[in-house]
Amino acid sequence: MADKILIAPSILSADFAAMGDAVRDLEKWRADWVHCDVMDGRFVPNITFGMPMVEALRRNTSLTLDVHLMIVEPEKYVERFVKAGADIVTFHPEASEDVHGTLAAIAAAGAKRGLVLNPDVAVGKVEPYLDECDVVMLMAVFPGFGGQKFIRDVLPKLTELKALRGDRKFLIELDGGVTEDNAKEIVAAGADVLVAGSSVFKSQDPQRTIEVLRS
Ligand code: DX5
Ligand code: ZN
Repeated sequence: MADKILIAPSILSADFAAMGDAVRDLEKWRADWVHCDVMDGRFVPNITFGMPMVEALRRNTSLTLDVHLMIVEPEKYVERFVKAGADIVTFHPEASEDVHGTLAAIAAAGAKRGLVLNPDVAVGKVEPYLDECDVVMLMAVFPGFGGQKFIRDVLPKLTELKALRGDRKFLIELDGGVTEDNAKEIVAAGADVLVAGSSVFKSQDPQRTIEVLRS
């Protein structure tokens, strides 16, 4: 487990007309990472933003930019996301014809790299790549939209992934449906990093919510 639990609020739930303010707020609220949900309308049925947004965020924050690519053919874009300022780039293995090569390209460009598994993808799918990952993220919702309900079947998968990790150093990240009410059991099951979109940005007191999620 990481020394402390890291909180990665997703700006998908922030005001898209004021992203500079959103990341400055996240610094003030002591978030650890900024989770950036990139959707292409093909891998998922929604479209968000791309490299220009990451580049703009980079100019406005020194927080770690955690870029979650929900796009087909991520190999075509990973270098440009790193150049734009991504510190971490993750993608879904089923979206790429060359998972090893794409992971290597992210590392060569100078960022941390990782894979993401949808709720219906077994943990075994990432096993061949675990030595090449800095982060492995499990989805607790089907990607595409913020504010969905947490799918509890992910809890045993977290524990399975943690057991598979052995002496490896990758962080286990959990994305989707995280709230003040379920954070504790998600961490107990094995997560090191919690993504939280709506529960942070729709909170009356986001700083307190981040503290509660982390405890
Ligand atoms: C889902 C995204 C998630 C999600 C998190 O497609 O990858 O990052 O928006 O939002 P909440 O915390 O609202 O589920
Ligand atoms: Zn995400």
